[in-house]
Amino acid sequence: MKKLADKLAHRQDEGSLRKLTLRPDLIDFFSNDYLGLARNRELYCLIENELSTQAGNVNGATGSRLLSGNSAYVEELELFFAKLFKSPKALLFNSGYNANLSILSAIPQKEDTIIYDELIHASLKDGARLSFAQRFSFKHNDLKDLEAKIQRAKGEVYIAVESVYSMDGDFAPLLEILELTTKYHAHLIVDEAHSTGVWGEKGNGMCCYLGIEDKIFARVYTFGKGMGAHGACIAGSEILIDFLINFARPFIYTTSLPLHSLVTLKAGFEYLENEISLQEKIRSKIHLFRTLIEGTESLSVMIQESYSPIQVLRISGNEKAKAIALAVQSKGFDVRAILSPTVKEGEERLRICLHVFNSDVEIERLVKTLVESL
Ligand SMILES: Cc1ncc(COP(=O)(O)O)c(C=O)c1O
Repeated sequence: MKKLADKLAHRQDEGSLRKLTLRPDLIDFFSNDYLGLARNRELYCLIENELSTQAGNVNGATGSRLLSGNSAYVEELELFFAKLFKSPKALLFNSGYNANLSILSAIPQKEDTIIYDELIHASLKDGARLSFAQRFSFKHNDLKDLEAKIQRAKGEVYIAVESVYSMDGDFAPLLEILELTTKYHAHLIVDEAHSTGVWGEKGNGMCCYLGIEDKIFARVYTFGKGMGAHGACIAGSEILIDFLINFARPFIYTTSLPLHSLVTLKAGFEYLENEISLQEKIRSKIHLFRTLIEGTESLSVMIQESYSPIQVLRISGNEKAKAIALAVQSKGFDVRAILSPTVKEGEERLRICLHVFNSDVEIERLVKTLVESL
C-alpha cells in the first residue's frame, strides 16, 4: 500500500493528481456532446417510444454476444450501421475503448508491425501493447516520418490514426496517409471517434465524407461523443468482422450492450438524419469562436489550428493551466485543463469543446473571460 500511496503523493506534488469532479452549475464547454444529443428531450421521447414497443430482455443483454447476449435487434442494428457507414459489415462494441483494444490486440500478428501516430488515443496504444506485433509511433501527422517507419517495418503493416485528434482537434491528412498506405500495401485503421455524427452524410464520419471509406482496412466509430450516447462499431470487410468475433477478447468476454443502448443508437442516427442542419450549426459556432479568438492579441498566439469542435489553447505547465481553468470556471464556464502526463510536458492546455447549445452570447462571454483570466 505504501508504494501506491507514494505514487499518488508524487502525482499530488507534481500537480497532476486526477480527481472526479462534478460542476453541473457551469456552462458546458468541455463535454464531447457536440451536437447536444445527450441532453435532447425530443430524442429522449423517441427512445422511450421505441423502447416501449420492445419485448424480451428489455433491461439487460443477459450475456455476451456469442452466448445469450445476441438478439435480432442488435443484428438489425449492425445491418443498419453497415449501410450507414458504407461497409460490407459492421460489428458493435460496448465502447470505443473496447473496439480499439480489440482491433489492435487481435488483428496484427507476431510477425507484423503496428505504426501509430504519437497522439492516438490511449485505447489504441493499449491495444498495441496487448499485441505480439512490433510497434512504432510516428511524429504527429508527419508523412516523412511515417514513410521512414513503414520502410523499417516487417510483415503486414497496420497504420493507426484518428480522423480528428481528441486532444488537439486537428485532422489527420487522411488522403496523403492513404496514398502511403497504398504505396506500401499497408492496412489503414481510422478511429472516427470525434468525427462520428459531426461529419459525413447522416453523420457517417470523415472517411465517408472524403469518399475513401472502401480503401480503409478498418474504421472505428464511437457513439459517446457527437452522438451523445454510448458504444462503438467497427466497419470493415466480412473477414475482418468474422476475425474479430473469433479472436477479439474485449468483444468475446463481456456482456453485450443492453437494449436501451441499442435503441438509443438507432433513434439517435434517425434523429440526426432529420436534423442534419446540426452539423452546419456546430460549424457556425466553431467559426464564431475562432473569429473572436483571432481578434484578440493574447489568445490568437495561443490557439492551435483546429476546425473541429475541439479547440485548444496552449498553456505550458500544469500549475498555470490549472490556475487559468479555475479562474474561467469561477466565472461560470466549464473548461478543463489537460495536464501532463495526459499530454506531453510543456504541451499542457485548455481544451474547449463547442456545442450547438452554446449560445453566441455565451461564446462571446467565454472569450472575454479567457482574455481576462490570462
Ligand atoms: C479518439 C478516441 N478514441 C476512442 C475513445 C474511446 O471511446 P469510448 O469513450 O466510447 O470508450 C475516445 C474517448 O475518449 C477517443 O477520444
